[in-house]
Amino acid sequence: MSRLRMGVVGVGHLGKEHARILSALPQVELIGVADLHLEQAEAIAHRLGTRAFRDPTMLLDLVDAVCVVVPTTHHHAVAAEFLRRGLGVLIEKPIALDIAQANSLVEQARQNKAVLQVGHIERFNPAFERLAERNPQPLFLSSQRHGRFTGRSTDIGVVLDLMIHDLDLILALVRSPVVEVRASGTSVFGRHEDVAHAWLRFASGCTASVSASRASYTAARCMELWSHQGSARIDFGERKLTLLQPSDEVRLYGLDTRKLDAAGLAQLKDELFGKHLQVTEIDCKQGDQLTRELEHFVDCVQNRRVPRVSGADGRDALALASRIVDALRLHRLEERELAAA
Ligand SMILES: NC(=O)c1ccc[n+]([C@@H]2O[C@H](COP(=O)([O-])OP(=O)(O)OC[C@H]3O[C@@H](n4cnc5c(N)ncnc54)[C@H](O)[C@@H]3O)[C@@H](O)[C@H]2O)c1
Repeated sequence: MSRLRMGVVGVGHLGKEHARILSALPQVELIGVADLHLEQAEAIAHRLGTRAFRDPTMLLDLVDAVCVVVPTTHHHAVAAEFLRRGLGVLIEKPIALDIAQANSLVEQARQNKAVLQVGHIERFNPAFERLAERNPQPLFLSSQRHGRFTGRSTDIGVVLDLMIHDLDLILALVRSPVVEVRASGTSVFGRHEDVAHAWLRFASGCTASVSASRASYTAARCMELWSHQGSARIDFGERKLTLLQPSDEVRLYGLDTRKLDAAGLAQLKDELFGKHLQVTEIDCKQGDQLTRELEHFVDCVQNRRVPRVSGADGRDALALASRIVDALRLHRLEERELAAA
């Protein structure tokens, strides 16, 4: 099969990594990189032995597919040009600024039979993959994505910037409509929220507590879920999955501590993890997830496959994120009314 001719639009913090990885993939020919900041494009192109452009439309006649790695505000305008030509597009998350733009991109891709993938990279985190393949049926989940201020992605709030990663993962696991959304949060650095907490209820009965912050002193990227099969905890940074599974005996008869005396309780505490709740720790260090995400995209374009994270998935994650942002506004209004009363 001939090499896929690719370009990268936007070679800032993340786009330069896309370009670096694509330039080393044997199944790809990196045709060029485009950035409004031409000096940046030239520096990256020089390093990778490819061409630099200021105007992304210069790539239209030269490539089969592109990665769009510009700030979210520009996603729609840049990606639509390529989709209209039927070219493959991997667009970074969030897919767009609002649902109208997201729907327009999904529709452009459908009409022009173009492959559209959204860069929800945690779907390619091996720890999440190991969990998803077990097909858990969550009863409830909680997730935390906390980090320090980076000064990037300030065109959007923390819900569209960070929380959307977990919203996409939760939607992929729960596969049930969200029937209730509550949220609270605050802004620290400007006009958008920088810390947010949301509580979700799904039609299946599952609930989720999701928190995100870009104003945190300590970093955390983790998710925990409980199902009838036990619990699972993912550390996304460490790429580690920890499963806690009840033994057959506990599954059949339960653990009733009311029947235990002091000695029985002490024994239970000693034996809880291991005998009653089996602990399995799975290290999932293999492969870099951006490389795996890009390889998957190349395969989808070359073999006309539907990507693991389609345009519709990106739109659904954005739709839920937008409901959370609306709920945050409502919560702030209610707070103001309470303060004024
Ligand atoms: N998947 C992830 O985990 C993840 C992580 C970080 C960023 N992102 C996403 O990646 C995107 C880029 O983020 P970043 O941190 O690399 O931003 P950045 O500001 O570091 O880089 C963006 C680059 O795009 C260029 N640019 C802006 N508008 C352009 C246009 N119309 N045409 C061509 N070039 C243009 C800028 O000059 C800049 O070099 C955002 O959508 C962000 O949400 C995703």
